[in-house]
Amino acid sequence: MNQSITLRKPDDWHVHLRDDAMLEMSLPWTAEAFGRAIVMPNLSPAVITATQAMAYKERIVRLLPASSNFEPLMTCFLTDATDPLDVAKGFIDGILTAAKLYPANSTTNSATGVTEVHKIYPVLERMQQIGMPLLIHGEVTNREVDIFDREKIFIDTILTKLRHDLPELRIVLEHITTEEATQYISEAGDLTAATITPHHLMINRNAMFNGGVRPHMYCLPVAKREHHRLALRKAAVSGDTHFFLGTDSAPHLHQEKESACGCAGIFSAPIALELYAQVFDEEQALNKLEGFASINGANFYNKPVNEKTITLVKSSWEPPEEIPVSHNDYVCVFHPGLPLKWKYLRKGFNEANSNI
Ligand code: NCD
Ligand code: ZN
Repeated sequence: MNQSITLRKPDDWHVHLRDDAMLEMSLPWTAEAFGRAIVMPNLSPAVITATQAMAYKERIVRLLPASSNFEPLMTCFLTDATDPLDVAKGFIDGILTAAKLYPANSTTNSATGVTEVHKIYPVLERMQQIGMPLLIHGEVTNREVDIFDREKIFIDTILTKLRHDLPELRIVLEHITTEEATQYISEAGDLTAATITPHHLMINRNAMFNGGVRPHMYCLPVAKREHHRLALRKAAVSGDTHFFLGTDSAPHLHQEKESACGCAGIFSAPIALELYAQVFDEEQALNKLEGFASINGANFYNKPVNEKTITLVKSSWEPPEEIPVSHNDYVCVFHPGLPLKWKYLRKGFNEANSNI
């Protein structure tokens, strides 16, 4: 009998589902494994207003089978010109769950992001008043700053000031990658939390240069040195409720990754849950997985925890390397080293890959 673990259904507190054919490809992976997901708004053009978020939500929900209980939680993309009233009304009306701060040009589709945080203080003040979470891509964008230092410097210069100026604002520092970020979050109090991706728990920066350039290991913020990866693992399994699951699964077509200027983003949705289980198992902390995956995030967002459960089985298996997008294109799945050690029994997916 294989070892198994049953958890309350997890939520993904940071995912890129995209739109159109890419959405059709990505949505089932997330919707089968997670009860809810915070859907990133960095489409092209970005989802800026509550009305646009509502329309995007409708495009997602239309693709879900009638039997699905998956709930997409929508966000808006903050710009220098964001209207505080629109954001606040979107939150109060239940259309928006959070607003996302991308420093301009920090990552994929962020050119119209925020150029200076003080320019959006009226929005942030309103969000603070109504308890609306601010989700932050925490990297400075000055190209003279070493790419491996951009998260730390963001924390030191921008986040610290922001929390000083708006001490009651609820903040999630997304996809943290450094030891300094784990330290900062663990000391920052109950209104500040962080998500951690499966890839940052599994790879360090060497993975991007293993025998040649490995574009499928490239995302932003980039993976850092090994001691940072170890610190992230320690934080994830620590039981500290300020850390929770956010895959940052971010699919790009393979030729947009395998190019002279490849896009940032790692597509992990088909195996993300399995990777987290593997990490927690390796850290001998499977008893902490449910808190990280299914409880801490819900509590931070003031949402009820999911009542349904999912079961993962300890079993060696090889996931697909490529997943088709429409008829003539595909995305590559994140592969941190095979075989994987845990398996979540998905419908559809399992029929083609039933080797346990
Ligand atoms: C994300 C994407 O592709 O949209 N890319 C990434 O490397 N994580 C954007 C983001 O979250 O930074
Ligand atoms: Zn992201």
